[in-house]
Amino acid sequence: MSADIRYVNGALQVEGVALADIATQVGTPFYAYSAATIQRRFAAFHAALADLDALICFALKANGNQAVLSLLAQAGAGAEVVSEGELRRALAAGIAPEKIVFSGVGKSAGEVAFALEQGILCLNVESLSELQMISDIATRLGVTARLSVRINPDVDPKTHAKLTTGKSGTKFGIAWDQALDFFATARALPNISLTGIDTHIGSQITNLPAFDAAFARLVELVHALRAAGHVVDHMDLGGGLGVAYQGDSEGEETVRLAQYATIFHKHFTDLDCRMILEPGRFIVANAGVFVTRVLHLKPTPEKTYVVVDGAMNDLIRPTMYDAHHAVLPLCEEATAPITADIVGPVCEPGDFLAKGRKVACAQGDLLALMGAGAYGAVLSSTYNARPLVPEVLVHGADFDVVRPRQSIEALIAQDRVPAWLRADGK
Ligand code: LLP
Repeated sequence: MSADIRYVNGALQVEGVALADIATQVGTPFYAYSAATIQRRFAAFHAALADLDALICFALKANGNQAVLSLLAQAGAGAEVVSEGELRRALAAGIAPEKIVFSGVGKSAGEVAFALEQGILCLNVESLSELQMISDIATRLGVTARLSVRINPDVDPKTHAKLTTGKSGTKFGIAWDQALDFFATARALPNISLTGIDTHIGSQITNLPAFDAAFARLVELVHALRAAGHVVDHMDLGGGLGVAYQGDSEGEETVRLAQYATIFHKHFTDLDCRMILEPGRFIVANAGVFVTRVLHLKPTPEKTYVVVDGAMNDLIRPTMYDAHHAVLPLCEEATAPITADIVGPVCEPGDFLAKGRKVACAQGDLLALMGAGAYGAVLSSTYNARPLVPEVLVHGADFDVVRPRQSIEALIAQDRVPAWLRADGK
């Protein structure tokens, strides 16, 4: 739990605002974020690597709300984007193009052209086919594309299988031993400048030796590339640093950040490269909560279900990654705790938010799922025709709705019924 999200006189608060008061105003479910936590965590990450000329490019996929991005832009963050949509979001939040890197295994020609027209810092290339495409587009536009190539170092970060990206056998990057050929090919192509390497070995990594191993592989590669006459002047080490989803997360994360920074310094202090990092989760996860209301308590012969109004479409991490989010009542010690599965209204057995938890709650009570600031709202959908839920940004004693609840009318109005099917025939 972040220092800004805690009980005050028995009521769970984000900064100076009781979550129950937000629920009264915006209804449930909703997401709430602490601006102070986001600022503090970005500052801590930045400070840990300050002496390395490191550019911290926040990974928008973790939380793309324009208010959150504006906050990070003000703090000096760059952005890591993986689509034209994310690139436009970053620009709209005031993040300068020269602080934006574009990753992803499948950029379209349109996306590449847009990124080049904007003059972003770097495109992180993932295949020879993409390299050729970027060269063609840059030539047509009369610009030089700044590139790095994503290396798959074949290191197992020992995180969830669906969060593992730096092992061979995944779709990401090119094999370590193909990098020399890749650079040689790039040299022969017009309008590109390939002078960097990047990686991202996975997400929610708490096994820090995995970073140590991956970084060592990359440094070895930089030396090999330079020995072959190539320029390598920047390195992008991706994101991936894990957070604590239980207990005193901020204390534990401070220690982990210090360990990560030590590994980082060990490898990169004397490399004479500009360093780029792409943290997402570490900056925002524990700045956010997801608040939901208990609809029913449903005892069955096997177990008790707490049926809440939030569901897998709002917060898919438990269903998708077996993720653990701590569950806290908004009103401390309101009722005696029961052990239960917390499930939503969606018609799928995989729709659950927590399993086998001891939680104090009664019908009508409000519950908070902690650590929901990263990969929460961004991964939501309207499955079962459930409108997207609001996002709220708390700032001291105030809060703002930074994404209003989608209306059911707006949801229905997105679809178009062809004239021949319409009852009125018009
Ligand atoms: N850079 C690249 C190229 C990435 O693919 C990612 C995350 C990041 C940076 C940021 O990683 P972070 O610091 O947040 O770990 N939906 C999953 C997480 C998927 C991460 C995908 N890539 C979840 O809810 O756990």
